Amino acid sequence: MLSRRDFLRSAGGITLLALNRIDDGLFAAPTPPGGPRLPLFTVVPYIQPGPRSRLTDGDESMVVAWQTLEGAGDFSVDFGSSERFGRSARCERAARASGHSGDGERRINWTAAIDGLPLAQKTFYRVRGNGVTLAEGYFTTRQPRGRRIRFVSFGDNSYGDLSDRAIAFHTYRQHPDFVMNCGDNVYESGTDDEYQRYFFPVYNADAAGQRLGAPLLRSVPFYTVIANHDVQGKDEHGHEIADFGRSPDALAYYTAMHLPLNGPDAPTHPTPTMGPQQRVDLFRACAGARFPRMANYSFDYGDAHFLCIDSNRYVDPNDAPLRTWIANDLSTTDATWTFVVFHHPPFNVGDEHYSVQHMRVLAPLFEAHGVDIVLSGHEHNYQRPRPIRFTPAGIGRSADVGGKDRRVPGAFIVDRGFDGVSNTRPDGVLYIVTGAGGKHLYDAGFTDSPSRWTHADDDHVEYVAKMITDRHSLSVFDVDGARLTMTQIDEAGDEIDRFVVTKTSKRISSAEAHGG
Ligand SMILES: [Fe+2]
Repeated sequence: MLSRRDFLRSAGGITLLALNRIDDGLFAAPTPPGGPRLPLFTVVPYIQPGPRSRLTDGDESMVVAWQTLEGAGDFSVDFGSSERFGRSARCERAARASGHSGDGERRINWTAAIDGLPLAQKTFYRVRGNGVTLAEGYFTTRQPRGRRIRFVSFGDNSYGDLSDRAIAFHTYRQHPDFVMNCGDNVYESGTDDEYQRYFFPVYNADAAGQRLGAPLLRSVPFYTVIANHDVQGKDEHGHEIADFGRSPDALAYYTAMHLPLNGPDAPTHPTPTMGPQQRVDLFRACAGARFPRMANYSFDYGDAHFLCIDSNRYVDPNDAPLRTWIANDLSTTDATWTFVVFHHPPFNVGDEHYSVQHMRVLAPLFEAHGVDIVLSGHEHNYQRPRPIRFTPAGIGRSADVGGKDRRVPGAFIVDRGFDGVSNTRPDGVLYIVTGAGGKHLYDAGFTDSPSRWTHADDDHVEYVAKMITDRHSLSVFDVDGARLTMTQIDEAGDEIDRFVVTKTSKRISSAEAHGG
């Protein structure tokens, strides 16, 4: 149980939070002297990366956001390169329906967009309401090319379990530049109510601890991808659809997250919605340009490029405009390292979601464009395949939009020489499954049992090098010039896997400067 704390120690420095925690997901602001009361807070201030994709010095963005029950407040956000701040950002409000009381009760999403920042700048911010300082914190904008970076990746995380909090805590202890989530941020339905209860209290906890979580979100940008538990409803065919009739606060991905907006503005297979039109309209007004565009995006960070794709079952990865956008994105980056992130793993030997293979049809595209690592979740465990080259035998069932069996048979070429220790040059793509981020684990008994790591439908090709299913874990990536190290850390903080990838590339400009 946390007591009221006004001064809190956050990621490497002091952060002020003058909001009194009433319960998980409900906070009261101090009453201003003689002024009107502020509405109760449902989400305390957090940061999000904002809309920028490519690295441009002087054009960095960050969004400071918070959420309250319906009500008025004279909010202001100040920011600057020192704790004297010096600049102000405009605060905007957008209404959301409450998950509990439907159309009768609304909540407010508040945002302040900070723009025009230099790269790699430590930036201090302050949120005030009715004249009272409510929160202070800081973040660092993205690192330019040539700087070493560290990020943490995991998926399938938040459902109020202690394991969620342990993963948040060990993420925090790694002091990452940012988090790259692989989807299924919250369970079961991706609603505001679930984010309020399971996500924000864990990753923006008031203190850091194994059983508490950590104050990550107030200082560390959190990127994520849309996944099946963000879109949890069923249409008449049993297909995934965001059902605003059942959940008025559905699709919080598009309203609570603020991610790059460089994806297709009219995807062929957008996130589907159903339910009362007024609720859908209210959601769309709050999401603005983010819906449906934010389903796909890309961004750079240091020497790495990240392509984030919606792999939900309503998407057909054979769609020509989507493939063109992906090919264009991958062919125009000059980053040393390329990561692709989506929720549904193409190569997974677990029992739970083996047949959800539609993303396999993109493997030749990834290989042609020199993708280094694909990060996925969905299967709740850790799997490290060997480097794979895969040629699909046609499109298989990948175009069966909405179907659960999306198998794509094909021919494997597996690099059995790469071990990530003495041989660090993979011939093929590394498709990492890091879906052990907190939710209950799948595939008990697979750990250290390589005989189970094949599948008859894949002709028992041995494409998995390591599989750990008996503990939650997170992936730590250190990208340092021409050298990449991935370390898998379990929920006790112990290292359970590690590999190194090296390369020589004409793209590398700064490898020597960093000892790469
Ligand atoms: Fe999932």
